Amino acid sequence: MADKSLNEIRNTFLKYFEKNDHKIVESSNLVPNNDPTLMFANSGMVQFKNVFTGLEKRDYQRATTSQKCVRAGGKHNDLENVGYTPRHHTFFEMLGNFSFGDYFKEQAIHYAWDLITKDFGIDKNRLYVTVYHEDDEAFNFWKKIAGFSDDKIIRIATSDNFWSMGETGPCGPCSEIFYDHGDHLAGGLPGTKDEDGDRFIEIWNLVFMQFEQISKDKRIDLPKPSVDTGMGLERVAALLQGTHDNYETDHFKKIISSASEIIKIKQDQSNQSSFRVIADHLRASAFLIAEGVLPSNEGRGYVLRRIMRRGMRHSHLLGSKDPVFFNLFDTLKNEMSGNYPELVRAESLIKETLKMEEEKFLVLLDRGIKILNEEISKIDKVLPGDIAFKLYETYGFPIDLTEDILKSKSLEFDKERFGVLMRESIELARKNWKGSGDSAIEKIWYGIKEKIGATEFLGYENDQSEGVVKCLLKNHKEVSILLKDDEGMIVVNQTPFYGESGGQVGDTGTITTNDFKFEVTDVQKKLGDLFVHYGKVVSGSIKLEDSVELKINVERRNDTRSYHSATHLLHESLRRVLGAHVTQKGSLVEPSRLRFDFSHMKPILNEEIEKIENFVNSMVSKNSDVKTRLMTPDEAVKNGALALFGEKYGEEVRVLSMGDEDGKYFSTELCGGTHVKNTGDIGKFKIISQSSIAAGVRRIEALRDKQLDDYLNNKEKLLNISSEKNDELITELTEQITKLGGKPNLDQSDQKTLIKNLSKQLETISVNSILDDKSKNIIKDEEINEVKIRLQKVDGLPPKELRKLVDKGKKELSDGIVIVFASKDEKVGIAVGVTENLIDKFDAVKFVKVGSEIIGGQGGGGRKDFAQAGGQDQSKIDEAFEKLKSLI
Ligand code: ALA
Repeated sequence: MADKSLNEIRNTFLKYFEKNDHKIVESSNLVPNNDPTLMFANSGMVQFKNVFTGLEKRDYQRATTSQKCVRAGGKHNDLENVGYTPRHHTFFEMLGNFSFGDYFKEQAIHYAWDLITKDFGIDKNRLYVTVYHEDDEAFNFWKKIAGFSDDKIIRIATSDNFWSMGETGPCGPCSEIFYDHGDHLAGGLPGTKDEDGDRFIEIWNLVFMQFEQISKDKRIDLPKPSVDTGMGLERVAALLQGTHDNYETDHFKKIISSASEIIKIKQDQSNQSSFRVIADHLRASAFLIAEGVLPSNEGRGYVLRRIMRRGMRHSHLLGSKDPVFFNLFDTLKNEMSGNYPELVRAESLIKETLKMEEEKFLVLLDRGIKILNEEISKIDKVLPGDIAFKLYETYGFPIDLTEDILKSKSLEFDKERFGVLMRESIELARKNWKGSGDSAIEKIWYGIKEKIGATEFLGYENDQSEGVVKCLLKNHKEVSILLKDDEGMIVVNQTPFYGESGGQVGDTGTITTNDFKFEVTDVQKKLGDLFVHYGKVVSGSIKLEDSVELKINVERRNDTRSYHSATHLLHESLRRVLGAHVTQKGSLVEPSRLRFDFSHMKPILNEEIEKIENFVNSMVSKNSDVKTRLMTPDEAVKNGALALFGEKYGEEVRVLSMGDEDGKYFSTELCGGTHVKNTGDIGKFKIISQSSIAAGVRRIEALRDKQLDDYLNNKEKLLNISSEKNDELITELTEQITKLGGKPNLDQSDQKTLIKNLSKQLETISVNSILDDKSKNIIKDEEINEVKIRLQKVDGLPPKELRKLVDKGKKELSDGIVIVFASKDEKVGIAVGVTENLIDKFDAVKFVKVGSEIIGGQGGGGRKDFAQAGGQDQSKIDEAFEKLKSLI
């Protein structure tokens, strides 16, 4: 096998097991979608976790994979060693074969032995194995199958020979195969004190999966003994290519030599680690970005950022002043995209993310160096640990760089203090990492769910249903009764109400009995499947175990479901037009609009928007049926379903397919939301805005059907109004200018008149545009004790315009009270008008006095029918309104 490339070795492994009745299964994503406790897939068995425990069934009992793994952050964390040893990686591929209750120890050992000694042709004299100290069975199989003498089979009592995926999950004793690279390298056999050397290297781990760790102290048997194995592709490739050093394989050599070309510096003993760091971190970064993970300051994004910056720091160390990673990516793509097509699909996202992060990082390095130099000028010998830490934590300035710079000036930093601060920060980060699942779950729900169980959701089929009250809450405490006017929460055994999830808002509606009515204003899901109805008792009262009638607001739900289906069509259209790197980053589906956030680096061009809208609208106009199917997550993915990375999916998932493209579905997604029956129900669709909400994440807002009509009508009206007004003004101004311009030389007073007129006109334009803007000019007409009253507040309007608004208001009400606030540049004005027929009952001066005191003014002045005053505190306007209303 000595001339085989890494790619060929991967292939040999998979084909060997395929020949032995194993199904070749694709690597799962690095971001596990079936496990919120795990940061990244860290071994081949992660995607099969639920198959081992019996929760999930597949149509095969034997599988083989080459799994993408990242070990950086979480239980298996190798980041700091990478680059300085021949074998550590953040990203690596794990080859494995799996038996789900099919073969066990003997056959697993047999397959392994056969492959490495025959197909791989490894010299059997160089091989050793370990077994778990109590595992006589494995010991004897090795003797029998490999013909090993006892001294070649080493019993190990530690956790080294008991493999577990994480704190919980499948686990079992294991047996590891070691290769002796020869006595020119230092190192001892496993179990000896020199075992960590480079001579005896583990190449394959056979895990005899027998147990499931349920919690820290509880371990149960798996339904059937199974097998999980893991062989690091990079290290076995090294062995087969005649080296003990993974970075000396064909694959890494290519990446390193391309880095050397780009940075224009040769690799030698002194800079070797930097090249290795770059090669390794490029792989991890590219694969993570391909799955939609983007550098950020928390969770997975933070780990990615650390990896990227560590790599970029090393390219800087090699003397590079410009971003290099994005250029290096092409080499990686050529090497690996044959097996991992996601590298091609996400190429533009990967390159742009790499480039942007590196540009940012270079700026940050400059700034850090400046700050550090300032601090150095203040010290004698030792830089305080707090400052080193601040540079590191706040400015992202790498500590080894701080150390390098200090060292070059024969200075140092307080490592002890730095270590303390560092540990505190890691502890904090660990506490804050809650997995990708629910964040802070209020503890109370655990007890409630245990007591009453999950709520059955009937809302896919029904708009109303009966139910029995199982739990009542008021002020977040359980109570036995809710009375009239109480605000509280109700949990029922079953409900047609959708609970907010997957971006879709919760339903509203009513829960009633003959004499009880509860207005449901929101529904939230707790612990996954406990549906909690929030709202207020408008009449009667309700007790535990009462039977109730639940009814959702059907119109609102219909609008919401149309928006949800529109979101799916939009998602697929975005991928078609912008590329497959588009990954959903969040969404909001309401009855009146939709919002969709996704990974994309650039603004979307107008013609792209048009294409996207055309895709959606053409799918809508085909009036095709929407299909919902229930299947296992695996089947769903096989059906091409787009799954949200990092989402939790159960044993059975809902798969939504819609849109008709030559008889095939246009969009297929995993989704628990509610949807239209036919795409025609969605109505006309239009994107009304796009923006960038974070680096590499764009937001689209869109409307459909009646909200879209309203929006377009209003927009047209506004345009007409302002263009009519502007037309008038323009004609007027033109006349004046022509009049003045006719004179050969404008004298001073003419100029003054012109400027005065122009500024007046401009002011009118701006006042008009404020008054036309409904978000700035808010008018509410009410009636209190049979008196008509207008409350108006205008943002951005000079107080001198108040009088006009009051007069206009009085005219429009014909009798009543008009209260107007106008605020601009930290100033607020209040004006009140009382119509003639009411001045013997109400006094505008009094109103203004009370109002202006609240907004921090002096009381003002005026007459009974009109008064005005100023103030400073805009935030008190609403309070002033309330107070004035109470005087009527
Ligand atoms: N899951 C085992 C490992 O990662 C095979 O070593």
